[in-house]
Amino acid sequence: VVVVGTINVDMVFTSDVRPKAGETVLGNTFSIIPGGKGANQAVAAAKLGAETHMIGCVGNDSNGEFSIKNLQNMNINTQGIKIIDNVPTGVANIVVAENDNSIIVISGANYKINNELIDSLKDLILSADIVLLQLEIPMEVVEYVVELCKKNNVDVLLNPAPGVELNKSLIENATYITPNEHELKMIFGQLDTDEILKEYPNKLIVTMGSKGVKYFNGNEIIKTPSNKVEVVDTTGAGDTFCGALAASLVRGESIDAAINFAVKAASITVTKLGAQSGMPTLKQME
Ligand code: RIB
Repeated sequence: VVVVGTINVDMVFTSDVRPKAGETVLGNTFSIIPGGKGANQAVAAAKLGAETHMIGCVGNDSNGEFSIKNLQNMNINTQGIKIIDNVPTGVANIVVAENDNSIIVISGANYKINNELIDSLKDLILSADIVLLQLEIPMEVVEYVVELCKKNNVDVLLNPAPGVELNKSLIENATYITPNEHELKMIFGQLDTDEILKEYPNKLIVTMGSKGVKYFNGNEIIKTPSNKVEVVDTTGAGDTFCGALAASLVRGESIDAAINFAVKAASITVTKLGAQSGMPTLKQME
């Protein structure tokens, strides 16, 4: 599994209530933990047994060092990570309150990833069984990687988060696309979910939080329900789903089996605070 994406340090605040504009509230806890959609998905895949490589950029600072060490501790190859001078490592401010999270990302070094870096890592990318991408890095780079993979028959799993409108070619060239309901609307407008799914058999996989996951297998819409769990923090649930889906697909599982596996992994993640802390290992999954 090769992940091309962001590496952040998450500043996580928990509180009973979310402050309204202009309001100050007293919260409960504060943690500084590794995050970034790319890094989270890499950790999810690696914890589930996939040989995983991370491509991205961090700043030449303590947050960058902390992030790289964390990925290495998770057994992820970090040779594709470039350290950028004079730009800080990406950070995210995450408020966990009222059973949901809100996130502000400051991209920093993540936005320094460019097509030149991708060219220098072409062999690594083309050696992958699957390449995972999200939309926290420049769109131009996402499109470049997806096109490169398409030309060379390498599977791509595109997690279109955060949601934006996508070029038709990006949708066509990706092997799998995993929006949540909100992102689906941003990509396809207000069309009926099942109608959109039918346009993209075995490609479009829609995650719906506690309602589970839906995709169209060419004959029928398949729904996989979520597991009932005690939710502590939903941050990283989508990332766990994508990393687990990739890990399962490269093991040769069918889409159906891979989705089942990924839904279970994501259900486990939300029982702990932080994007990566609750991600299950293969052993825990068993
Ligand atoms: O998907 C969750 C992630 O989004 C967080 O870890 C944060 O860093 C942002 O990238």
